[in-house]
Amino acid sequence: MGFKKEFVWGGATASYQVEGAAYEDGKGLNIWDVFCKEPGHVYEGHTGDVACDHYHRYQEDIALMKEMGLQAYRFSLSWARILPDGTGKVNEKGLDFYDRLIDALLENGIEPYVTLYHWDLPYELHKQGGWLNPKSPDWFYEYASIVARHFSDRVKYFFTLNEPQCTVGLGYQTGEHAPGLKVGPYDYFQIWHNVLLAHGRGVDALREHSVKPVKVGIAPCGALYLPASEKPEDIKAANWATFHLMGDQISDVSWDVGFCMDPVFLGQYPEDVLQKFGPYFPKFTDQDMDQIKRPLDFYGQNMYNAVPVRAGEDGSPVRVSRYDGFPKTAIQWPVTPECLYWAPKFLYERYQKPVYITENGMSAHDWVSLDGEVHDPNRIDFNHRYLKELKKAAEDGVDLAGYFAWSVMDNFEWAYGYSERFGLIYVDYRTQERILKDSAYDFREIIRSNGENL
Ligand code: NOJ
Repeated sequence: MGFKKEFVWGGATASYQVEGAAYEDGKGLNIWDVFCKEPGHVYEGHTGDVACDHYHRYQEDIALMKEMGLQAYRFSLSWARILPDGTGKVNEKGLDFYDRLIDALLENGIEPYVTLYHWDLPYELHKQGGWLNPKSPDWFYEYASIVARHFSDRVKYFFTLNEPQCTVGLGYQTGEHAPGLKVGPYDYFQIWHNVLLAHGRGVDALREHSVKPVKVGIAPCGALYLPASEKPEDIKAANWATFHLMGDQISDVSWDVGFCMDPVFLGQYPEDVLQKFGPYFPKFTDQDMDQIKRPLDFYGQNMYNAVPVRAGEDGSPVRVSRYDGFPKTAIQWPVTPECLYWAPKFLYERYQKPVYITENGMSAHDWVSLDGEVHDPNRIDFNHRYLKELKKAAEDGVDLAGYFAWSVMDNFEWAYGYSERFGLIYVDYRTQERILKDSAYDFREIIRSNGENL
């Protein structure tokens, strides 16, 4: 019992958050390069110019991953490193970097899981309207085809998009993320439609241009819900909440898992969103929906916490407030381990695909102790609590394919800059020294026992 034998234990990062080398070897600008330089967007004006310098230190990082026992590394490609203008001329040096990275991973027995897009749109494409441009799905197809042709001899697993909810919701609706826009409702739904079409076109590109068979999925986030008790009506309410609009604002649409994933897996926009916001939707055809719903091999979910709900009198979900002093991580996110039980269960029931937890972890105020080590008992406790729940889901029949800790190393946490530390490896940004945290050694034991020690 417990996790199946083939269950994959990995760690994740993303290009802009770790690579640095923002102006090296022909890389083009992306929207984060530009956004970080505009005052007021990022904590203390931090940027990803250097980040963890993974571009130069990937060998050392891979050696540490190996020491941690990681079986897989989920990382994203920088589109503008490969295509500095977003389309057209390929930057060979960009491909070279990822060749070196992938080869080194394979030499160390670590399986590469490649995310095509983790929020760093080439700036040249932004200047043409970015995701609002109806050509954006074609741009993505071109980029994904190049990636497929070049890397699929060695990479077997791909994710198209990471958290499209943040691309649209934070990038274009609240403006907290690059490109920092606050578009109106018509543009908002057009952008969503383009992003979802891009996902489908990306899947096609990977299938059509890969030189060997590849497995493809997507890694969304979204608001997840927990039943406040084990009563069947509360479970039903939490399940319903996970896939339906919980609120009447456009910002609620951004985090509605059903809104983003029903088109991808079921080929339709949910009725409740259409009813409320239909007039703002672009005209779309059955062919569009067919293009969005492309057969996928697995479902990836980034998952950190969930909101408890109970069934109201008519059965509909009612949010349950948390008690005073409820545990939170450094970034102020609630600690809700049960989300790793309920969400995979609900997602598997609805979409019927093997589930990867593509991100999970916590930020803590870690520092180097007098003994030179980084002691992070809270993270160890967090990991055990969450993974016990995931194991329970596996034992209850959810087809779980793997788990990726966020993150392999401390890194650039978007608008929070370097103020939040999510890593299993501590990074001293002054010297780029890396130190395995206690949780990294502990994770190694979890991996070694395939979760039996939980
Ligand atoms: C979601 C994102 O994919 C990742 O980039 C981010 O750093 C983590 N979660 C933590 O916020």
